[in-house]
Amino acid sequence: MKALVLAGGRGTRLRPITHTRAKQLVPVANKPVLFFGLESIAAAGIQEVGIIVSDPREMLQPDHRTGELVTVLVNSQAEIRAAVGDGSRFGLKVTYIQQEAPLGLAHAVKIAEDFMAGDSFVMYLGDNLIKDGITHFVREFDAEKPDAQILLAKVARPWEFGVAELEGERVVRLEEKPKAPKSDLALVGVYLFTSSIFDAVRAIQPSPRGELEITDAIQYMISTKKNVRSHVIHGWWKDTGRVEDLLEANRIVLADLATRIDGTVDSATVIEGAVQIGAGAVVERSHLRGPLVIGANAVVKDSYVGPFTALADGVQLSECEIEHSIVLDNSQIHDIGRRIESSLIGRDVVVTSTEVRPAAHRLMLGDSSRVELS
Ligand code: G1P
Repeated sequence: MKALVLAGGRGTRLRPITHTRAKQLVPVANKPVLFFGLESIAAAGIQEVGIIVSDPREMLQPDHRTGELVTVLVNSQAEIRAAVGDGSRFGLKVTYIQQEAPLGLAHAVKIAEDFMAGDSFVMYLGDNLIKDGITHFVREFDAEKPDAQILLAKVARPWEFGVAELEGERVVRLEEKPKAPKSDLALVGVYLFTSSIFDAVRAIQPSPRGELEITDAIQYMISTKKNVRSHVIHGWWKDTGRVEDLLEANRIVLADLATRIDGTVDSATVIEGAVQIGAGAVVERSHLRGPLVIGANAVVKDSYVGPFTALADGVQLSECEIEHSIVLDNSQIHDIGRRIESSLIGRDVVVTSTEVRPAAHRLMLGDSSRVELS
């Protein structure tokens, strides 16, 4: 059994964060989403993993300091390779497989055929998080030996997913992002396949969005009478493609946090609940109400950090209040009168108040940013 992990794609719903970073590396509780997947693959006893990565691409972006538009090379592939390396830290042997364009999940399967060399595999979408891991599903697949096994979960917005129609336990039809969903059972981004999937991905045509859909490939298997098992999962699962989902994932993971303080906290600081503070971090005259995590070398002064907040390495806060948020590396938030909440803030961002007249909001935001002021 091998694994195929998808870490390509554009991450359009997480722009502007994903203009410069792979969506699979956006952290949940200060750990890249992708790492949760790799850990659960290793925990299921799988060692050989192919990771699908995208080609580097050029983009126009405002310059950090001047605001002028400049061409930058967005290389999420390099970032993923740097973060995951050869996989040995996860107990995995990783092979990178380059996808020349985001032509769909079934296209990713197609280009992995040589790597799989006839083995069965679990396909894991790198932005999916399954709290209880995948060991159970891998065992079940091993024991029952179907041609494919899919996982389904009840969702509130089925039209955003692949949707399954069941008759009893049997899957009769799958549809990718249907306008009028026949059920509220979404395809979870973890699939188990035998090599019969390769005939299916060769047989299908691109969808209206121009992609070879894995949903269509599995539908092809169903139509050609292959044994496609389904399993409705009841544990917690999230596709972290949207900010709201990422914040919820952060909340769920932080809920199990154990306190660990490696940084320095002064005696004027009040700590409630589970808190993790990384090495070299400094917290002074602040109120920390966990669960929350503060990364290495972060500085928090005269601030309130509330539940379900993850501040990455090197973040600096002073005179502000923040909760239920994710702040990425080396960003700074200073002197903000109102509490910040339910926010995702990228890397090297500066949010501050100013005395300069006229009193106004002055913004420099990347493409597709979202700001709510009150
Ligand atoms: C993909 C699949 C979809 C599935 C979802 C799960 O959608 O196409 O069938 O339900 O992953 O995360 P995407 O997130 O690529 O739009």
